[in-house]
Amino acid sequence: MAATHAPGQTSASNAELLQLARRVLSGGALGFLMLPSDDDVVVREGRGSRLYGVDGREYIDYLLGSGPMLVGHCHPRVVEAVERQLRQGTTFYFLNEPAIRLAERVIDAVPCAEQVRYVTTGSDATFLSLRAARAYTGRSKILKFEGGWHGTNDYAMFGTVPTEASDYPHAEVDSLGVPAVLADEVLVAPYNDTELAVQLIDEYASDLAAVIIEPLQRVLRPAPGFLEAVRAACTRRGVVMIYDEIVTGFRLAWGGAQEAYGVVPDMACYGKAMAGGFPLAVIAGRRDLMDTFGNVGRAPQTIAWASGTFNGNPLAATAAHAALDILSEPGVYDQLHRIGGRLRAGIQEAGRRRGLPVQALGEDMVFGVRFMHNSQPTQWVDLLENDRSLGARFAVQCVKRGILIVPNEKFYISIAHTDEDVDRTLEVVDDALAACQAGAAETPAA
Ligand SMILES: Cc1ncc(COP(=O)(O)O)c(C=O)c1O
Repeated sequence: MAATHAPGQTSASNAELLQLARRVLSGGALGFLMLPSDDDVVVREGRGSRLYGVDGREYIDYLLGSGPMLVGHCHPRVVEAVERQLRQGTTFYFLNEPAIRLAERVIDAVPCAEQVRYVTTGSDATFLSLRAARAYTGRSKILKFEGGWHGTNDYAMFGTVPTEASDYPHAEVDSLGVPAVLADEVLVAPYNDTELAVQLIDEYASDLAAVIIEPLQRVLRPAPGFLEAVRAACTRRGVVMIYDEIVTGFRLAWGGAQEAYGVVPDMACYGKAMAGGFPLAVIAGRRDLMDTFGNVGRAPQTIAWASGTFNGNPLAATAAHAALDILSEPGVYDQLHRIGGRLRAGIQEAGRRRGLPVQALGEDMVFGVRFMHNSQPTQWVDLLENDRSLGARFAVQCVKRGILIVPNEKFYISIAHTDEDVDRTLEVVDDALAACQAGAAETPAA
């Protein structure tokens, strides 16, 4: 058998590894993320706000592992805690102190949390929170919002990226392989359309188990009164209100979007930032709802099944404790606001200078750059105005200059990002916009 390189000791070039990846990985990638081959990056390591490619190139990282690295890469306190735990064992399946104490900590921090159930990924958390809602209510339909992303579970795969407004409350399935019968189980409404959301909750109440919402839906903030009205309708109709806080949890505020926006759901899904870069997610919620998962002394047919090999993994729970220790320090969220706010304002200003319609939408700690005139989109269909091809060119120009972002996606800010990082990023953004304009000028008219 031909010798292969051990990770970390590779002498293979970025191009060689990319070529191998394209051959051995399904779709040539780990998931959706793939840049054009000339600019795609095989990462060797991360430190603070930086990633380093196998070819030694340095990048300021605004992807943060798709969000988890809120405290920055290889934070010494996370590394030290995990190293200590590593020497005591990696996974037990049994109860362990880090997991028990982390649950207590989540309950203290998260307004809706009276109990916690561990899972491993955000997709597990949304899938199983919906199961719990069905078990609790005895109803089966769910309502989600157009453009909302709740991971890859079958129930979440409707109306996520339509190219035009859906035929509400029906929406096209996003993925191949999703059972057709689920189309009747998943209702879809436009985000921030308070009237239609409340109308659907009232109309379908006898069949509706849950409303699942990203409180900050990708880059769209909730309109005044929207979350409050959905909350009131869910309470009135006995429908379980679930926040998908996989992105917002411990990021928008210590208590997540529930704290930031002041509306408390019945259940919430947390993951990404809470575990310092390790695969851990939780469903947190009211005790009576969480009780549907309970198994002590109960027959299997009387509970909503939610068990997994790595649930409450001690290594991930230990990393989570270290990350939460760091995030609980005074000034952390002010700093994220300040750094992210400066970057957003600077990017928009660069667009104005260049005569391009650039919007930096969302919140300071997580926002998306979109090329569109509407500066206050409220729904997914508003975002269809975004010039995606310009967004893709812009991202590639940024990556070429050492700023790592994903086309038409989000900028994630970490506590490791500095003012110098922002200064450098804004220089690059200006150059990247200029390069996009020059490229456009060179493109012959169709
Ligand atoms: C809001 C939201 N929910 C759920 C998920 C799914 O999480 P995971 O990728 O850990 O399955 C994601 C992932 O990006 C997300 O952004």
